[in-house]
Amino acid sequence: MTASPPRIGGLDVESWGDPEDPIVLLIGAPERLSGDWRRSVRALVEAGRHVVLAAGFDDAEDGSTALRRLLTEIPSRPAIVCSDVVLHAVAPALAVTGPALASCLVIVAEGQGTVSPEVEKLLPDLPVQVITKDSGPDPVEADNAALLGFLERQAPREAMLYQAGSDPRTLRDALGCFATGVTVVTTLDEAGQPVGLTANSFSSVSLDPPLILFCLARSSTNVERFRQAQHFAINVLHIGQQPTSGVFARSHADRFQDVAWETWDTGAPILSGALASFECDAEQIVEAGDHLVIIGRVTRARFEPRRDPLLYFRGKYRRLHFS
Ligand SMILES: Cc1cc2nc3c(=O)[nH]c(=O)nc-3n(C[C@H](O)[C@H](O)[C@H](O)COP(=O)(O)O)c2cc1C
Repeated sequence: MTASPPRIGGLDVESWGDPEDPIVLLIGAPERLSGDWRRSVRALVEAGRHVVLAAGFDDAEDGSTALRRLLTEIPSRPAIVCSDVVLHAVAPALAVTGPALASCLVIVAEGQGTVSPEVEKLLPDLPVQVITKDSGPDPVEADNAALLGFLERQAPREAMLYQAGSDPRTLRDALGCFATGVTVVTTLDEAGQPVGLTANSFSSVSLDPPLILFCLARSSTNVERFRQAQHFAINVLHIGQQPTSGVFARSHADRFQDVAWETWDTGAPILSGALASFECDAEQIVEAGDHLVIIGRVTRARFEPRRDPLLYFRGKYRRLHFS
């Protein structure tokens, strides 16, 4: 996560995330973001916010004037997240007659954690949330959840729309909202050579009988090999196997060259150390648009209960947040 340095309101500010996303103005964070704030910035960016760090507003008078100028220069009304330590400068900047300069205010309690009546008087119509330090096992995670929940309610992002006939890219973006794991599906070709590709279209189908599926693009160079295969395997990747996912998604002379693999009963390649591997008999193939839905009957599975999965969401690899 690297910051880019735009200039807004005559001030140098640091920002993270996509400049097209709604702005969250972070005020009063340590100038070089320290651990807790950095996690909050990451959570905000991952929730689709453009985080702008505005420092140097500590002085009540000059700080308020500079902040008000900054707010009037920002094209849309930002959500403001500030520490209560700088509230004395932030509140007067927001106290305007006419349209509000911010969509909402989140006060992260580092000091007292209360909003004084004088400050409250300055913010009559602004939705305000005070976040006090949670005492649970992961206070930052809890604070971030409260922060994101409030922003979703008070400053919702504009939803995108797909309709029949729209650009397929928009549909892909819509489908990318569904977070998945990542697998490598494998089989042997007629010559007994291993073939495999990265796929996140894996799904469980039935427990009795034990069925799973994945979808294979008709454009895959391996489509005929999977059509003919009597058996295949699905290898669910763990967080350390992102490079493997990359190799099996790129055209590569021998994708199996640098990965350890073994075979069980059917010969379908099982990647050693995968989070889970499912060996399957080919059960059914359904022709479905530009993909084949390939259904397999699980004959054997092995899984590692303690590792974290590699995740894929909105076109990027991700990791689990929760411990
Ligand atoms: C995270 C991720 C998930 C993917 N999921 C699928 C999938 O479910 N089905 C598919 O056909 N291709 C999927 N792909 C694309 C293939 O891995 C990629 O096109 C690969 O190069 C195909 O190789 P092939 O043409 O040699 O079979 C995915 C790629 C990535 C990076």
